[in-house]
Amino acid sequence: MNKILITGGAGFVGRHFCRRLLDAGDEVHCVDKVVEHTGGIHPDNGWPLFNPTDYLNFHFYHQDCRAFFKKRKDTDFDYVFHLAAMVGGRLMIENNPLAVADDLSIDSEYWQWAVETKPRKSVCFSSSAAYPIKLQRKDAYQLLKEDVIYFDDDIGMPDMSYGWAKLTMEYIGRMAYQKHSLKSVVYRPFSGYGEDQDDTYPFPSICQRVLHQKGADKIIVWGSGNQMRDFIHIDDCVDGVLLTMDQIDNGEAINLSTGIFTSFKQFVKTAANLAGYDPDVVGMSDKPEGVFARAGDTAKQRQLGFQFKTSFERGIRRALDYFSTAD
Ligand SMILES: NC(=O)c1ccc[n+]([C@@H]2O[C@H](COP(=O)([O-])OP(=O)(O)OC[C@H]3O[C@@H](n4cnc5c(N)ncnc54)[C@H](O)[C@@H]3O)[C@@H](O)[C@H]2O)c1
Repeated sequence: MNKILITGGAGFVGRHFCRRLLDAGDEVHCVDKVVEHTGGIHPDNGWPLFNPTDYLNFHFYHQDCRAFFKKRKDTDFDYVFHLAAMVGGRLMIENNPLAVADDLSIDSEYWQWAVETKPRKSVCFSSSAAYPIKLQRKDAYQLLKEDVIYFDDDIGMPDMSYGWAKLTMEYIGRMAYQKHSLKSVVYRPFSGYGEDQDDTYPFPSICQRVLHQKGADKIIVWGSGNQMRDFIHIDDCVDGVLLTMDQIDNGEAINLSTGIFTSFKQFVKTAANLAGYDPDVVGMSDKPEGVFARAGDTAKQRQLGFQFKTSFERGIRRALDYFSTAD
């Protein structure tokens, strides 16, 4: 049994880690401020897929993790899954860059606390937004390999304040290893998705729209609709982390990705076809679409023994079934 801290544990990714680790019998301490406009849900308000309060090994702290770091000086955490962040989808990233910049302070206080308390391993969530945007343009895009972020030389412009904050967290983590021997591993998830994700994210909102507009001749998607992302199911993200996290100690990063580019038009088409109709899918172009093409190379994950299992079609089918029964 491990003693585990999950910051941001009431968010989308955190809830999935809580479930896996609680089922494994670990002592799970979850700290979350349940910030408005993020994916956080207070356990008392019911988590969509399971009830953490059924578990005696679940401990919840409804507070800012920075306040937790000031007060709690436990020196016996085996793992910390550091997830707390202001995320909130593309609109938050584009329209509220200073809220997202709060991540800089969350992360720097995390590392200061870690230097003091020395958790056995920090498992830190960065993002695919840390990758240089020049490698994600329409005229020149590529599968993003972990080592294109090379801290010893030209780093490349990441995606908005969110990407900068994640890069800085990664950089500090590397220094914490070099100067304080603090072991950590970093994950760069691409578009993690699941049926219980907050409705402000494209995945659940598109699946629900496809069901509500069943039989329509035309469905409109954000941006041009040609923008492409790498959708990876949350179960695969959790598997990927648990399978690889003990293999890296020096703060190096690993993608959580499938290596497959899927456009939003393709996504909607697949979902509609699974729901039993075949609309034209048309772009709208006046809402932010972000970078043109973002998908992650999978060689390093495979080398470490992880490969995703859930095809995007299967993930969409699962969500459509979930939302159909929820309606
Ligand atoms: N979901 C993805 O596909 C994805 C992709 C890339 C990176 N990530 C990273 O994974 C982590 C989790 O993301 P998510 O999708 O679960 O987002 P989420 O919004 O669902 O969860 C983030 C959680 O952090 C909490 N939080 C924010 N500020 C806090 C603070 N100061 N103190 C305590 N709690 C705080 C929020 O209340 C929320 O519950 C984040 O670090 C995010 O950047 C996720």
